[in-house]
Amino acid sequence: MDSFRYDDGELFGEGVRLTDLAAHVGTPTYVYSAATLTGHYDRLAAAFAPLRPLICYSVKSCSNIHVLRSLAARGCGMDVVSGGELRRARLAGVPGERIVFAGVGKTEREIADALGGSAGAHEIDDAPIAQFNVESEPEYELIASIARTMNARGVAAIRVNPAIEAGHHAYVATGAAHSKFGVPPEHARELIRRFAHEKHLSLAGIHLHLGSSIADTAPFVEAVRKALELIDALARDGVTVTALDLGGGFAADYESDTSPSYTEYAAALVPLLRERAAAGLRIILEPGRTISANAGVLLTRVLYVKLTGPKKYIVCDAGMHTLIRPALYGSFHFVWPAAVAPQHEPPRRAERLDLPGLEPCDVVGPVCESADFLARERPLPPLARGDLLAVFSAGAYGMSMASRYNSHPLPAEVLIDGSRARIIRRRESPEDLTLHEIEPEDVPF
Ligand code: LLP
Repeated sequence: MDSFRYDDGELFGEGVRLTDLAAHVGTPTYVYSAATLTGHYDRLAAAFAPLRPLICYSVKSCSNIHVLRSLAARGCGMDVVSGGELRRARLAGVPGERIVFAGVGKTEREIADALGGSAGAHEIDDAPIAQFNVESEPEYELIASIARTMNARGVAAIRVNPAIEAGHHAYVATGAAHSKFGVPPEHARELIRRFAHEKHLSLAGIHLHLGSSIADTAPFVEAVRKALELIDALARDGVTVTALDLGGGFAADYESDTSPSYTEYAAALVPLLRERAAAGLRIILEPGRTISANAGVLLTRVLYVKLTGPKKYIVCDAGMHTLIRPALYGSFHFVWPAAVAPQHEPPRRAERLDLPGLEPCDVVGPVCESADFLARERPLPPLARGDLLAVFSAGAYGMSMASRYNSHPLPAEVLIDGSRARIIRRRESPEDLTLHEIEPEDVPF
């Protein structure tokens, strides 16, 4: 699952004792394990090897450039959804031919950059990307017209909305019929028929993304079946679909052993696609959370233990501004002290552990909002001011969704590799907060 383990009551990330790390770098800090990141990628790649897929890590889940580099060094591609993510992927050394670009609101500038026209950004290789994942007909037309003007040749897939409800929360169920993403299969068929052979933007691929944290193989199987029906219908129309991008959405173990393994996802999907892939259909995967979630913990310091009647609040220096998932989706993250007495070493990660002397606590942050919590009614060992807590499975959608709300500087990020720990993003300072708040300048109308 990951390389964060207790040894004699002390939490280690690979070979690094996390209480020592926090003493040096302060809190709140996101800590990632390189071995977990690359181990996840390697196991996913091995499970799906029969399809020889292009694996494009979803940058939005954890976008630090050094995290991207460690994956890019294994040959991993990237799934990006903005010009900012495209720049990160390129800076991390990912070649254009391994980048796919999704998102419902691509701007002209972002499109031109992706086609290889990032004028002025010469310090990075700006070769054209592998594929635009197009969300609508007007978007297709805009990309095609920009490509024509630039005399470039782009490749596109149309995002198909398969009308399948899946995902850990309504906010991340993107494949449902009423969501803003993609087009219905019939419309996709018409678009591919019209534009498959268009010189400047060939639209001959199908893109799917059902939702996030789907701990069941059935929705993927159903979606792939629907995509294959569409591919067959197009074959009858005389059009060959060249790529099938399955998107992301595999679950991660927020609680121990609760999500399918890569082998289980592959066992369900590879048989459906093996012959197609052998016949030339390019398979693309866009995993995010399943690679990065368990590769990261968030370290936070207890500021106060506050007793209000029967209620015990553990007030810490991380909160909804550092990790918004509990506040936004009601998500579960295992929270545990980084140093505990032997009887409190957690046997596994779960909402309730049957250990002696635990007391229910609300773990909350410093932000002035009632939604500012990391855990509620969570039985925890006794805690005191100054104790260090680890919030587990925080690598995905943690730092990448963090904000400066209430004017808290963004946390530091550390990457552990064996017994070495390196700061990969320095902690912001209070001065950083006002850096862009310049002396007022007149707008030159
Ligand atoms: N591909 C596309 C087109 C996506 O929209 C996403 C995620 C992914 C791939 C990666 O999905 P993953 O493998 O990570 O599930 N903030 C939410 C998750 C939002 C996911 C958005 N799209 C959370 O914290 O749960």
